[in-house]
Amino acid sequence: MNHFLDIHKTDPADLRAMIDAARGMKDARDGKPKGTRDAEQPLAGHMVALIFEKPSTRTRVSFDVGVRQMGGETLVLSGADMQLGHGETIADTARVLSRYVDLIMIRTFEEQTLLEMAEHATVPVINGLTNRTHPCQIMADVMTYEEHHGPIAGKKVVWSGDGNNVFASFAHAAGQFGFDLTFTGPETLDPERAVLDFAAAKGHPVTIERNPQKAVEGADLVVTDTWVSMHDPQSARERRHNQLRGYQVNDDLMSHARPDALFMHCLPAHRDDEATSAVMDGPHSVIFDEAENRLHAQKAIMRWCLGV
Ligand code: CP
Ligand code: NVA
Repeated sequence: MNHFLDIHKTDPADLRAMIDAARGMKDARDGKPKGTRDAEQPLAGHMVALIFEKPSTRTRVSFDVGVRQMGGETLVLSGADMQLGHGETIADTARVLSRYVDLIMIRTFEEQTLLEMAEHATVPVINGLTNRTHPCQIMADVMTYEEHHGPIAGKKVVWSGDGNNVFASFAHAAGQFGFDLTFTGPETLDPERAVLDFAAAKGHPVTIERNPQKAVEGADLVVTDTWVSMHDPQSARERRHNQLRGYQVNDDLMSHARPDALFMHCLPAHRDDEATSAVMDGPHSVIFDEAENRLHAQKAIMRWCLGV
């Protein structure tokens, strides 16, 4: 049984196999209507619980559709409506759910909730985002980069903005897939030391460059994310905006990257805050391919978890 908890906790060969499998499944569906089931039905007879303690559009819909395409069934559960939200322990919830379902995907706040779920579940658990990481997103992003420009190994990826949960999974991926990652943002919103240490230990230390124009020089991929994440207090909004304004991804910033550089954003975006609409809708942008590839990447992740 394999849990998919984080990119740095998963064997690089398995990560590579999942990306390749996702590509194969995407190609096999080419041109088919969205509701068509896959020729192979590896999840037939499988029940999957999708638990959300935070809002979601992409994660919710892509997991649900992915399970159905592979012949399985889903239960979409809101944490607040479960006894989990009323004091039942995570361990007991994990033990109970394991009697009903074959796989659990959870989006939650504290990483500890995910870890306890995985520790006590007797079925695989997938991380659908915590305050600290978002591994499914970055699997889709690596897949998206590679379908446009080939292997990501050795490429220059620049993150401009908040050193948040999505950045953390990029740093893990830099170590596991072997790309160069630069962080540009204010010191006050630096990434966690542990994620930088992981990438460095894997031989791909993250470069920190406070000047965004300098950071983006020669970039193959420029990435950003919202300036205020779901777990950040709304009271911090104005301060964060003031600190991050200089790190907006706009046409001027993109002009410092390679002419064929890609632009990514996991979405949802606050248009004309962290990235301008001109960039989001412009020639570098692959944001909707990223969103689509959540579906394909997660199908491969679920198959790996279940060994089917
Ligand atoms: N990118 C992402 O995880 O989107 P949702 O919050 O809509 O799931
Ligand atoms: N950093 C964002 C990502 C949303 C998909 C958040 O955690 O809210």
